[in-house]
Amino acid sequence: STSQSDTLRTPIVAVLGHVDHGKTSLLDKVRGSAVSEGEAGAITQHIGATAVPLETVSQMAGSLVKPEDFDLPGLLFIDTPGHHSFSTLRSRGGALADIAILVVDVNDGFQPQTEEAIDILKRTGTPFIVAANKVDTTPGWNPQQGEPIQKSLEKQSKRAKAKLDESLYELIGQLSDKGFSSDFYWRVQNFQKNIGVVPVSAMTGEGIPDLLGVLMGLSQRYMKDEMAIDVAGPGYGTVLEVKEERGFGATLDVVLYDGTIHAGDTIVVGGANKPIVTEVRALLQPRPNAEIRTEKRFDKVDEVRAAAGVKIAAPDLEDAMAGAPVRVVGDRDVDEVIHEVEAELADIEVTTEEEGVVVKADTLGSLEAMANALQEAEVPILRAEVGDIAPRDVAVASTAREPEHKVILGFNVDVLSNAEDELDKTDVKLFEDDVIYQLIDEYEEFVDEMKR
Ligand code: GTP
Ligand code: MG
Repeated sequence: STSQSDTLRTPIVAVLGHVDHGKTSLLDKVRGSAVSEGEAGAITQHIGATAVPLETVSQMAGSLVKPEDFDLPGLLFIDTPGHHSFSTLRSRGGALADIAILVVDVNDGFQPQTEEAIDILKRTGTPFIVAANKVDTTPGWNPQQGEPIQKSLEKQSKRAKAKLDESLYELIGQLSDKGFSSDFYWRVQNFQKNIGVVPVSAMTGEGIPDLLGVLMGLSQRYMKDEMAIDVAGPGYGTVLEVKEERGFGATLDVVLYDGTIHAGDTIVVGGANKPIVTEVRALLQPRPNAEIRTEKRFDKVDEVRAAAGVKIAAPDLEDAMAGAPVRVVGDRDVDEVIHEVEAELADIEVTTEEEGVVVKADTLGSLEAMANALQEAEVPILRAEVGDIAPRDVAVASTAREPEHKVILGFNVDVLSNAEDELDKTDVKLFEDDVIYQLIDEYEEFVDEMKR
């Protein structure tokens, strides 16, 4: 077919926010599934991607999204765990997401991971809207299943409305403290200048039509040019996760953000030691509206076009890193593509010095974010790597000259049991946290104590 939607790329929408503020529940409501209920303790462990076709978007949004008004094929949502740094979501030197939804619990307001998310949105210049979630928990709320928010507001008592307004204005104030001017989305004229706040409930579905309407409108109006790319060219993607799958060995969960990938293609992937050159054995795709992370049944497909979440099965993927680039070689010279991948990894690489602390993080993106934060705090880095804390890291940390540098900072990683033994034997101190600035605060407090 030659319809426009075949040539426009699906916008990538990242869903971010503090733990338990309702990111997965919001997506569940949009795709009509129940991923959140199936999660252990309802905590999202990894990043997932879900393609939601225009048809589904317009079903959910009713009169707010008429399919004939849009030529985008739908939206690709990326759910991020609250305890995980969103910075994994990188692409060729920028942010992987075209747009983001910052989910904030109206009762809780801004929390540490909300702040962290907003800092990254600011740094990467990613446009975003705010979903002020859990409006149904407002005292005296009269739920209006699946209705647009203004319709629902008409049905609320003066008291309930006033209570909700109070929380929403507080949120608008918190955004202003962060340097963002915002307002209720229906008052926003220019979404590039003002952040739209959409009151929603992932529980009752109130405001979900508005959220989808705003997302589609924004993507169509401001991003259409960026979406008009040559999706037939060689594929570009980012590794979300490296996972063992029965019968396939190590596989990659990838977000393809540009071009096309075919079964049999030669690809280059960022590895722990050097770029991995391998051949795609199988491309596995979750069904539409299904989540790549929880889906048990995948369809084997011959090709996948951007933007999409896809599982890649290929030999030699054990050393691939979360956050690393994936490139289809196509008709280019393989060395050229290896250099491209090396250059991109070098871009992320952290400046290390002769003296400093050891940093370990779960993904390239979070390692980069850690390095930025440490540089701001003027803490030198001796070694920085992706991966769990191993005995070797303890050995390296113990070589630091200054006692305040005999330290390992671990972000979202495990400590291997033999490394624990090493830690007991040396004077190396370990700091762990899953919020970057808290980790650095803890370390700085330790240094202050030491110097006192
Ligand atoms: P992480 O993935 O752990 O970061 O959390 P999350 O942001 O994905 O939150 P999740 O969707 O798992 O929701 C957390 C809890 O809040 C669950 O118990 C949900 O049922 C509840 N919840 C989410 N949205 C709403 C809402 O709009 N109203 C009410 N009343 N409860 C909600
Ligand atoms: Mg979640």
